[in-house]
Amino acid sequence: MGLTIKPLHPLFAASVIGVDLKRPPDAAMLAELQQAFDRHAVVVFPGQFIDNESQMAFSRLFGPLELMPLVPGKPPRLPHRELFDVSNLDENGRITPETDERRIYNLGNRLWHTDGSFRKIGARYSLLSAHIVPPSGADTEFADMRAAWDALPEAMKKRIDGRIAEHSIWTSRAKLGGYVPTSQELRARPPARHPLVRTHPGSKRKTLYIADHVSHIVGMPVEEGQALLRELIEFATRPEFVYAHRWMPGDIVLWDNRCTMHRATPFDDTGHPRDMRRTTALDVEEPGEWVEEPVVVAP
Ligand SMILES: [Fe+2]
Repeated sequence: MGLTIKPLHPLFAASVIGVDLKRPPDAAMLAELQQAFDRHAVVVFPGQFIDNESQMAFSRLFGPLELMPLVPGKPPRLPHRELFDVSNLDENGRITPETDERRIYNLGNRLWHTDGSFRKIGARYSLLSAHIVPPSGADTEFADMRAAWDALPEAMKKRIDGRIAEHSIWTSRAKLGGYVPTSQELRARPPARHPLVRTHPGSKRKTLYIADHVSHIVGMPVEEGQALLRELIEFATRPEFVYAHRWMPGDIVLWDNRCTMHRATPFDDTGHPRDMRRTTALDVEEPGEWVEEPVVVAP
């Protein structure tokens, strides 16, 4: 077929050229893309310059889209709740000041995580499009959790296989930035439990399912669970498992949240604009499985 796929890392991640994501792919193209996603887990599409509607339409091919929660009192900048605003801009397109709640909330993205692990139904694919990129910094780093699982010592594999972890968005927010949720936000986004080790459906490989969203490991003292989590995250994000993406305007990066972690890296976020927009297809097998979470209404 017409796709050119170039590996970006020895273990995972590839760039894909030869498809225009603004047009609906035919069945053969979709199958070829799916194969690339299953194998490489992080797929870069350079030079797409996609519009909001096309990005949403492409993401919807893989599941219903997650809705962006609103920060109380802060009107959204983007016109659809299916578009997560991963920018440092306010509703008027101005750079948000250091103390803005949206900035503080987004600081948690600098911790290693996988999107939506704090939900019962997590995220399948996230798609991030680059509109404005700062002159330096702000790379996104990705780590392959299948490769990390493969490399773990046998004793550790035995120790963690079958264990359950509890994930909460408020755990990562408390760790970095100190965003304080309202009682309404706490109710709207309760924690969720998932196995620490799962099988990635696309590649049938075993994978770690970990994130800085984890508050504790079920049946383990909190401190012991946190120490174990720290050890696993440090192991799984060693340089040999990490691909760092340096963004260019027009890039789209798609990643499989079921077998990777990622994190944002710092940049001069009060000096330069950065406009990135994320859509996220939820990991739903049956359409009826998905129920929209209660909307947090901005007062
Ligand atoms: Fe993320």
